[in-house]
Amino acid sequence: MCGIVGYYGHREALPIIIKGLKRLEYRGYDSAGVALLGNKLEVFKTKGKVSDLENIIPQRMPQNVGMGHTRWATHGEPNDVNAHPHLSQSGNLAVIHNGIIENYGSLKEALIQNGHVFTSDTDSEVLIHLVEEIKNIEGCSLEEAVRLALNQVVGAYAIVILSRDEPSKLIAARKGSPLVVGFGEKGEYFLASDATPIVEYTRKVTYLDDGEMVFIKDGILTIKTIEDVEKSPYIQNLEISLDAIEKGGFEHFMLKEIFEQPKSILDSFRGRINSTTGAFMMRSLEEYEEKLRNIRRIVMLGCGTSWHAGLVGEYLFEELARIQVEVEYASEFRYRNPVISEDDLYIAISQSGETADTLAAMSLAKEHKATVFGICNVVGSSIPRMSDAGAYTHAGPEIGVASTKAFTSQVTVLSLLALALAKIRGTISNSQLKFYMAELENIPDKVEKTLKLDKQIIELSERFKDSKNFLYLGRGVNFPVALEGALKLKEISYIHAEGYPAAEMKHGPIALIDEQMPVVFIATRSPHYEKVISNIQEVKARKGIVIAIVTEGDAQVKKMADYIIEVPDTEEIFSPLLTTIPLQLLSYHIAVLRGCNVDQPRNLAKSVTVE
Ligand code: G6P
Repeated sequence: MCGIVGYYGHREALPIIIKGLKRLEYRGYDSAGVALLGNKLEVFKTKGKVSDLENIIPQRMPQNVGMGHTRWATHGEPNDVNAHPHLSQSGNLAVIHNGIIENYGSLKEALIQNGHVFTSDTDSEVLIHLVEEIKNIEGCSLEEAVRLALNQVVGAYAIVILSRDEPSKLIAARKGSPLVVGFGEKGEYFLASDATPIVEYTRKVTYLDDGEMVFIKDGILTIKTIEDVEKSPYIQNLEISLDAIEKGGFEHFMLKEIFEQPKSILDSFRGRINSTTGAFMMRSLEEYEEKLRNIRRIVMLGCGTSWHAGLVGEYLFEELARIQVEVEYASEFRYRNPVISEDDLYIAISQSGETADTLAAMSLAKEHKATVFGICNVVGSSIPRMSDAGAYTHAGPEIGVASTKAFTSQVTVLSLLALALAKIRGTISNSQLKFYMAELENIPDKVEKTLKLDKQIIELSERFKDSKNFLYLGRGVNFPVALEGALKLKEISYIHAEGYPAAEMKHGPIALIDEQMPVVFIATRSPHYEKVISNIQEVKARKGIVIAIVTEGDAQVKKMADYIIEVPDTEEIFSPLLTTIPLQLLSYHIAVLRGCNVDQPRNLAKSVTVE
C-alpha cells in the first residue's frame, strides 16, 4: 500500500525517483507525486499513475535530494489534492507517507484550533502539520520535532520528510510499514518501500525496524529509535537481480511470473530435500524438531491468495502428518478472542511479508507464547523477522498484483513442511516419504508441460471473455484451487466469479446455473473423481457450460464436458501445483482480451500494509 522512494546524494534525484516509483507501482497507483529539494522545495503531484506524473514535470530537474510517492488511497479519494507529498502549514516541510495515522482526527482538531488549515482529506497531512507545530512550540530541531510527533501518533507509517530551510537534511522513519535504506557511494543514500528501486545502484541495504528513524545530515546517516536511542545499522547484501524485476520480453509481469513457475517451484524445494535418503536440509526444522514432534495443532494465518495456500496446506498436513489444522483469515483471527495454546504451531503465510493483518495475527499468537513459523517470499520483510522460525519460498520478486508464482511456491513449501512433520511424527514410512519427494522433484517438468496449454487457453478465453459470471468447483485439495481460480478471474478481469466445494453447489450456487453460466470443474484423478463426475452431470442437466481440468488421458469427463483441459498426472496432494496453472492462464487471457490492466487491476494493491 503506497510506495515511497527517497534519494540523497550527488546524482539527479528525479530520474532515480521516477524509476523507483515505477517499480513500486504495484503498491498502489491512485496518484503519484515528488518533492525535490534544492534552493527551493518543488512539489509535483497528480491523480493517476507515475506516467501521468511524468507528464507534468519538466524533463530535467537538477536537484540531488528528493522523494516520491505512489498512492493507494485510504483516507480521501484519489485526486490531485490528496496525492502526496503534503506540505506543512508554512509550506516549509513536506512529507510522503505509507500507512495510516489512526488518531489523525483528534490531532487534526487540535491543530485546527491552533490555526492550522488543511487542504487535503488525508491523515498524512496531519502528520506534517503536527511536526511543524511541535517545532515552533518547542523551538527544537526538525529531527527532534519529528521524533516527538511520532511519539504522539497512533498507527502505522513509513515516512520521508524534507525541509525547504534545511536542504542538506532528509529524515525518514518506519513503524508497521516497510522502509529499506540503501547505501550508495560515499554520502549517497536511497530509501524505498522495498529493495527493487535500490538494487541497480547498490547492494548494501538495511531494513529499518519498527520505531526506527533515519537522519541524513550533510551526507552522514544516523539511525535512532523514536525513544532517542542510537542504533548502528545492520547492513545486508541484496540478493535480487535486476532481471528478476523486469518484464524480460513478456507483455505483462503476470504472464512472466506464470511462466516462471517451473523454476520458482524448483527454487522452493531445491537443496531442501534428498529423495534418495528421505532427508530434509532445513535448519529451521532441525532447530524446532522437538517442538514439532509435540505440537497439538497447526493454525495457518494468511490473507487473499496466501490464505488459499493455507487451505491447501490443511489437506496436506492432515493427510500426511495426521495433525489437526485450522486455517484462519488473519483479519478475522486478530479481532476474535481466539484460544491460543503454547502447544500450537502458527504458520504465517505471506508473499510480501508486510500484510498488516497477518502481522497483527502473528503478534497475537506470540503474545500467547505460541511458536510462529513464517512462510514468506520477500527476504528481510517484517513477517520473517517476527517469526520464530521459517522458510523463504525463494520464488523471486513477484510484481504482478495478482499472485501466481508466489502461490505455487507457498504450496511447495507447505508440502515440504507437511512431509517433514509426517516424518518427525512417524505418520508415513521412509519409502513413502522418498516416493513423495521424488514426485515433487518431477513437478517443475510437469508444470513446464502444463504451460504448453497456453494456446488452447487463449482460444477458450476468446469464447468466454464476455461472460458475466463464472463458477469454479473442486473437491478435496482442489477446492482451494477453485477458490484461487475464481479470485484470479475477479481480481484482474472484473468478471464476477465464485469458488465453491463441488458438493456444496447443490446448496445454493446451483440456482445460478443456466445456459450462460461457465462452470470450471477441477476433476483430476483423485478418490473424489466419481463424485465430481456426478456434480458435472448435475450442472449439465441444468444446461451449464462445463470446462473441466482433467488428468491426461481422462475418458469419462471428456464425454460430458464442453471443454477439456488436460494436465499431467501426479499424486493428488501435489495436483494443485498443476491444476492452478490453467486457471491462472485463463484469467490472464480473459483480462487481456477485455482490455484490463492486468498488472495493476483497479482498486487493488500488492502489499496491503493497512488493516
Ligand atoms: C493482496 C494481494 C494478494 C495477496 C494478499 C496477501 O490482496 O493483492 O495477491 O494474496 O494481499 O498478501 P501477502 O503478501 O500477505 O501474501
